[in-house]
Amino acid sequence: MQPFNENLIVDYKNSDDAGIYKLTDEIALVQTVDFFPPIVDDPFKFGQIAAANALSDIYAMGGKPLTAMSIVCFPDKTLDINILREINAGGLSKLIEAGTSLVGGHSITDTEVKYGLAVTGIIHPKKVRLNNSLRDGDKLILTKPLGNGVLNTAMKGGMVKPESIETAEKYMLQLNKYAAEISDSYDVSACTDVTGFGLGGHLCEMLTEGGVGIELWYDSLELLPEVEEMVSMGMTPAGTFRNKEYRKEYIANYEEVEPEKLDVIFDPQTSGGLLFAVLASEADSLLKELKEKNVHAFFVGQCNSKIKNLFVK
Ligand code: CO
Ligand code: CO
Repeated sequence: MQPFNENLIVDYKNSDDAGIYKLTDEIALVQTVDFFPPIVDDPFKFGQIAAANALSDIYAMGGKPLTAMSIVCFPDKTLDINILREINAGGLSKLIEAGTSLVGGHSITDTEVKYGLAVTGIIHPKKVRLNNSLRDGDKLILTKPLGNGVLNTAMKGGMVKPESIETAEKYMLQLNKYAAEISDSYDVSACTDVTGFGLGGHLCEMLTEGGVGIELWYDSLELLPEVEEMVSMGMTPAGTFRNKEYRKEYIANYEEVEPEKLDVIFDPQTSGGLLFAVLASEADSLLKELKEKNVHAFFVGQCNSKIKNLFVK
């Protein structure tokens, strides 16, 4: 436990996407860090995806990313240094798109490549979007199709079409900036981004003890191409099993849900979309505006105080 500090608005305790520290009544810092090993073969695209993923946690809190520092692990004795240049260039391209300045970084020699960013942003202290402040009746919208964990596993097994991988990459390297900006003028009660815990895991993080429950509308979910086929062939990443095990008791009807559906719901995502809880009366217009502005978006469910935890419909 760290000592109480009245300026510390969000810390590590509630699995929020980023920490928030109030500087003045008008302005607070938003800080996050994320890095991981390559998930695609192309080093430039890997840099782009890692940067989009790291920036996403600032957008999920409702913040604006201002500066970033890179974190690099690289086997400089065994790999061509041009690979690292490509990774950095990919990351920088996304920072430029985000209007975020790269201010520095740190690299070490390691046996495996890893890359990511520590990002600092700002937000109005009263406009912070927590992940667990759902209201009864709020509708849930997600802004990227699901299943990139499944496709990544299937790709390693050479099972999936290259076009499907390309589609998955297209979404992973997409910034959540546009979705966040569009949502800014809507009554959003809670927001997070869908990453390693899968849609199901992140929905569970949104639940609070004794608070409103969530109906998950499985048939309304939009998936990347070939995801269902790959799941039925058993192309499930190891993370899915951990995610299911960890959150099982929060799924009210876990035993009744088809195992293939659970594999989709708990598929760990890399650089997934934003998950908004929006006032029901504004939900259709938010969905419409997102789509009109070329952000992939669909309903995933609705908050309901009559149910406990998560119910898969
Ligand atoms: Co996050
Ligand atoms: Co994160």
